[in-house]
Amino acid sequence: MHLTREEERVYEGDCGWANQTCIRILVRLGELFGAEKLIPIDSAHVSGVSYKTLGDAPIEFLRALADAGARVKVRTTLNPQSLDSHYLGKKLQKDLQEPQLDILRQFERMGLTQSLTCTPYYLQRPARGLHHAWAESSAVVYANSVLGAWTNREGGPSALAAAIIGKTPDYGIHRTENRRPNVTVKVETKLRNETELGALGIFLGKTLGDKIPAIKGLPNTPKDMLKQLCAAIATTGMTNMFHLDSTSRTRETEKIGVDSHQIKHAIEELSTASASQPDLVFLGCPHCSLNEMKRIAQLAEGKRVRVGTEFWVCTSCHVRQMARDYVKKIEKAGGHVLDGVCTVVSWTEKLGIKTIMTNSAKTAYYAPTLNKAEPLLAPLQDCLKAGFQG
Ligand code: F3S
Repeated sequence: MHLTREEERVYEGDCGWANQTCIRILVRLGELFGAEKLIPIDSAHVSGVSYKTLGDAPIEFLRALADAGARVKVRTTLNPQSLDSHYLGKKLQKDLQEPQLDILRQFERMGLTQSLTCTPYYLQRPARGLHHAWAESSAVVYANSVLGAWTNREGGPSALAAAIIGKTPDYGIHRTENRRPNVTVKVETKLRNETELGALGIFLGKTLGDKIPAIKGLPNTPKDMLKQLCAAIATTGMTNMFHLDSTSRTRETEKIGVDSHQIKHAIEELSTASASQPDLVFLGCPHCSLNEMKRIAQLAEGKRVRVGTEFWVCTSCHVRQMARDYVKKIEKAGGHVLDGVCTVVSWTEKLGIKTIMTNSAKTAYYAPTLNKAEPLLAPLQDCLKAGFQG
């Protein structure tokens, strides 16, 4: 890779161990993928925040970086943690809380915003047409496909290294020629809700690998529903963006059709629970928007959560503050609005939760492995019917 004189100085350690370590991560990554240079980024988003998924070993690395004076050079947000202080923090053992707080402290020392959300675009929309270094696959696909920002799918360490250097290697979909679609997907059935969009994503992720589809047949799909497609397509595959406009031309002629049977099959595969009544009804993967909070609150009004069932809605602290009235309605019905956290990266199994019902294909996909729970995948209305009595 070609480095500028200033970058070379950082690489040789003239600007300290932390900066040297970070630029070496970026250069190694760039060399692996054939990048010729580093390019400036406008923002970063770091995953690997939950103590449950991170574990103990990386905490010392984070502390060493912070001790050595590492500071982010661009606006950098953080993915959800493993527990919140209001609800899960009180239910889970204390020995899980201190390491989680330690992780957050180290990120804070390096100047990262304690956003704790997988939907950082609700806090601040990433600049269209500028380069970013985001981890969290659902947000990467949403940023590229819906918001017009440019980011590869980073891992937690490379996103952090990019934030500290303020640059990322110039490869993948940072390059115009790699953003063009190379397969056409024709959706031949009307998708009626967010769960069916998620099912489409699960199917396409498995089918496309890392190809970039031009998807036809989804005109005027609301952004909240597209968010489910983004999360799911990144769950089962390496696709980092799609095109929805009917004019986008593919580089190749490969065409894939998706019909109602494939959507139904994807939903059935993610609804394996034998019990019809879930222990937990979970909404908010990816984290809820203000509109979603409003809709859930409206549907929850005047209802009561079933005895023996937990009802959780996850969002960011930022959206929660804007949604105070909706939060009150959900809580009045007996539900819990958890901010900064999500079911998948928390210890639901330690709370005795064995069946999770959700409208998110991504959560349903991960429930058996990451939550040791059986999933039930169904649209919002059905989740609410299961969660509330009467
Ligand atoms: Fe977000 Fe957790 Fe889903 S990080 S995308 S709510 S698995």
